[in-house]
Amino acid sequence: MSRFSFLRPGSRRLAGASVAAATAVVMIGAVVPAEAATTLKAAAEAKGRYFGTALTRGDLGISSEIALAAAQFDMVTPGNEMKWDATEPSRGSFNFGAGDQIVSFAQSHGMRVRGHTLVWHAQLPAWVSGLATNQVQGAMENHITNEATHYKGKVYSWDVVNEPFNEDGTLRQDVFTRAMGNGYIADALRTAHAADPNAKLYINDYNIEGMNAKSNGMYSLAQSLLAQGVPLNGIGFESHFIEGQVPSSLLANMQRFAALGLDVAVTELDDRIQMPADNSELQQQGTDYGTVVNACLAVPRCVGVSQWGVDDGHTWIPGTFPGYGAPMMWDASYQPKPAYNAALNALNSAPTPTPTPTPTPTPTPTPTPTPTPTPTPTPTPTPTPVPGACSATVETTNSWPGGFQSTVTVRAGGSPVNGWTVKWTWPGGQTISSLWNGTQTVSGSTVTVRNTSYNGTIAAGSSTTFGFTANGTAATPTATCTSP
Ligand code: XIL
Repeated sequence: MSRFSFLRPGSRRLAGASVAAATAVVMIGAVVPAEAATTLKAAAEAKGRYFGTALTRGDLGISSEIALAAAQFDMVTPGNEMKWDATEPSRGSFNFGAGDQIVSFAQSHGMRVRGHTLVWHAQLPAWVSGLATNQVQGAMENHITNEATHYKGKVYSWDVVNEPFNEDGTLRQDVFTRAMGNGYIADALRTAHAADPNAKLYINDYNIEGMNAKSNGMYSLAQSLLAQGVPLNGIGFESHFIEGQVPSSLLANMQRFAALGLDVAVTELDDRIQMPADNSELQQQGTDYGTVVNACLAVPRCVGVSQWGVDDGHTWIPGTFPGYGAPMMWDASYQPKPAYNAALNALNSAPTPTPTPTPTPTPTPTPTPTPTPTPTPTPTPTPTPVPGACSATVETTNSWPGGFQSTVTVRAGGSPVNGWTVKWTWPGGQTISSLWNGTQTVSGSTVTVRNTSYNGTIAAGSSTTFGFTANGTAATPTATCTSP
């Protein structure tokens, strides 16, 4: 296997040194900004991102690993506990016990949860594969509805469909495509959205990190789903890399998905090394982690990075890729490796995020005309609200140092609403880092959110919601709602 070793000036003297020594050299050599954060989560949050990890129920019993996870990460993906074989082992009999344990752990440590995963050809109980073709859609919808309803309000996002593609960019033929054709993906997303309208809905896959046939397939699918108004919010790039082989087109590829109006996330990062790992490989691994974190930081719609595990002693890699190991940012003794310092340094060195990451056309600041002496203080051109047309309430559902998540409920009055516009003003410089189920325009501290193609119609007396995460101190501004 070919791999490059980017020996930077001075790195030769690391040959033969221990991981700890290599770590120290990297730290001394790094340019650390004045107010550098000292954990991945603090550094990520300062840049409007999260830094996550995958944890299994088994990990919860390993105190050193868990202490490290709680200190460093602010997002958790259950490693196996929310997969179909765990949650609905036999038809119609649901078991959320293990997943609930991961969620409680996350909640009690101020971490959010990426739900993983609702529909996947693997870790699928045999009863699903054995269903008659005309039974599969009902079983899939029932599974999604039950699981997404159980975790409603508790997960930030769902990997609704996992690993649907073949390497050539065609859809994998599995029990779902055989029963429903390619339309199963739209159906799964719509079903998940109906169950938990606030969760960000993702399609997640591996080997789609660079520009290639597989990511082209994903790109076309995403385009077509969005064109049909299917509630797709993001694409997950698993990012199971081999040391020295992070694709050079990673950033450009993330950018093209973000340009569709989607969030992107690095969901399962690890960087395996052919064992035994030597120091130059650990240094290269650091370069790789830095490259991945920097790519995410360069794309405003990249919401965060999750490593698939915590330390080298607890990772799926050696069991799945014999001969490979050491893919994590901490070694098996929980000591930070060059990869940790590279990731932290990339986060600390990045410029602070632009306030409006969504590609809404930046409202051209109207050149302030020379102040007219007329003291007419008509601040807001109150759009004569149709009495009772709609109302909006903002509620904070989660907060963490430097950020928060809110849900906005848009309610129709005595008559149905066809299209809505919600508006509020931030009291203290808050900025939205990402928003779902709505389209935002920001002008100074005023935020205007309009319905998307799929949630503009609200029946009389009913409601719909949109949500966002924001930077700053949690605030619940008074919002107005207007409907044409
Ligand atoms: C892996 C888990 O880490 C293992 O414990 C399990 O045996 C197999 O699955 N892509 C995914 C993850 O989306 O769910 C997989 O997790 C790794 C590859």
